[in-house]
Amino acid sequence: MALEIRSITDTELADYGRLREQGYGFSPPHGARSADLVRASGLTDRVLGAFDRGAMVATLAVSPFGQFFGGRPVPMGGVGSVVVLPEYRNQGIASALLRSAIDAMRSRGEVISALGPATIGVYRQAGWELAGDHCWRKISTVALSKLGPSVAKERRAVGADHDAMKRVYVRFAMSRPGMLARPAYLWGQRLELEAGMYAYVATRNDAVVGYVIYTQRRAAAGYTLTLNDFAALDWDAELCLWAHLGAHRAQASTVITDGLQLDSLAMFLSEGSIASVHDHQWMLRIVNAPLAVAARGFNFGVNASIGIRITDPIVAANGGCWDLTIADGRGQLETATSATIDITINGFASLYSGLYSARTLAANGTLAGATPEQLTMLDAALSGPRPTMTDDF
Ligand SMILES: CC(C)(COP(=O)(O)OP(=O)(O)OC[C@H]1O[C@@H](n2cnc3c(N)ncnc32)[C@H](O)[C@@H]1OP(=O)(O)O)[C@@H](O)C(=O)NCCC(=O)NCCS
Repeated sequence: MALEIRSITDTELADYGRLREQGYGFSPPHGARSADLVRASGLTDRVLGAFDRGAMVATLAVSPFGQFFGGRPVPMGGVGSVVVLPEYRNQGIASALLRSAIDAMRSRGEVISALGPATIGVYRQAGWELAGDHCWRKISTVALSKLGPSVAKERRAVGADHDAMKRVYVRFAMSRPGMLARPAYLWGQRLELEAGMYAYVATRNDAVVGYVIYTQRRAAAGYTLTLNDFAALDWDAELCLWAHLGAHRAQASTVITDGLQLDSLAMFLSEGSIASVHDHQWMLRIVNAPLAVAARGFNFGVNASIGIRITDPIVAANGGCWDLTIADGRGQLETATSATIDITINGFASLYSGLYSARTLAANGTLAGATPEQLTMLDAALSGPRPTMTDDF
């Protein structure tokens, strides 16, 4: 079936909203609200539609984000709203939309692309691969209330704190691979408090050193407590915010976190204090291999030059032999005539994000031909905290 695939116009946003409602099981006015958000953010031309004789039958949106890897924000296209009408499914339409999105991202300069998959196969076929966590956890508020005191003090956030909160977020996120570098329009949505939402800052010497935004919703007994956003400059600031959340223990037995990496907190809590609510992983695609390598940071102290051959059945320009040079915290891919290591574009995405080590990828054949020294070098250059993300799109 020959469908037309193109960017949609403002007048077609209502159809986009209806597709989202049907695809995800939302009820009105959810679709109209999604359409309004796209219009208000000026992102309509980033929504692709697939049209059958003029009628929109599928859609996909690409948001203009950055994503931190190795301490640097890498231009990233965030793929979301992938919906194909039921009667048009299993005919390759989502796959065709993904290929169009890759072309559009390459021409706009988005060098990587992330998405949260409802199903993995369709994205894996198009070159996206598992690259990090987005897990929901519940933490006992009683356990949080027993953490030690902090020097930082809490107070309710006011509008004048917003710029300081954004700066705290950037410093928090840049040392955590996979976190979003948020564009201005996303901050607008993040900092708008709906009914039941509260924002507090942690301060030291009158400077904002952390913040938390959360939602309270009445439940059968007490209320549910869900984190919307959280960032802190250091452990003392974290302690202040965790203690604030622990002080909800009379009404909420747990606080639910969305995507936050809790490894450092876990070292101060006893068994059973953190439990899984839902485990999810996001996927990454390397859209433009040389520019993606040049944009991220690498661990300092590792100097390497390794020949790699990338296989990319969709983006020919990513494929072929490359010299990967890593020095002084930066990387470079230059075309080469031969290479000893073979890696698929999917494996390269997991290696790039740091979710899977070179050794793990070598164990399942996604990366082949590397010497033990090369595997050690790649892992030394790319190792870090497990990648995670706290934003949904
Ligand atoms: C997921 C969805 C977008 C796929 O659209 P589609 O046009 O049917 O996908 P394609 O035809 O391009 O499928 C590509 C491949 O993925 C597979 N696939 C598609 N949907 C799948 C599913 N739900 N589960 C497992 N595999 C699936 C197809 O079998 C096909 O594999 P094949 O080439 O080996 O046969 C569509 O089912 C949908 O709109 N679902 C509801 C909304 C949703 O969940 N969107 C995803 C949000 S991340």
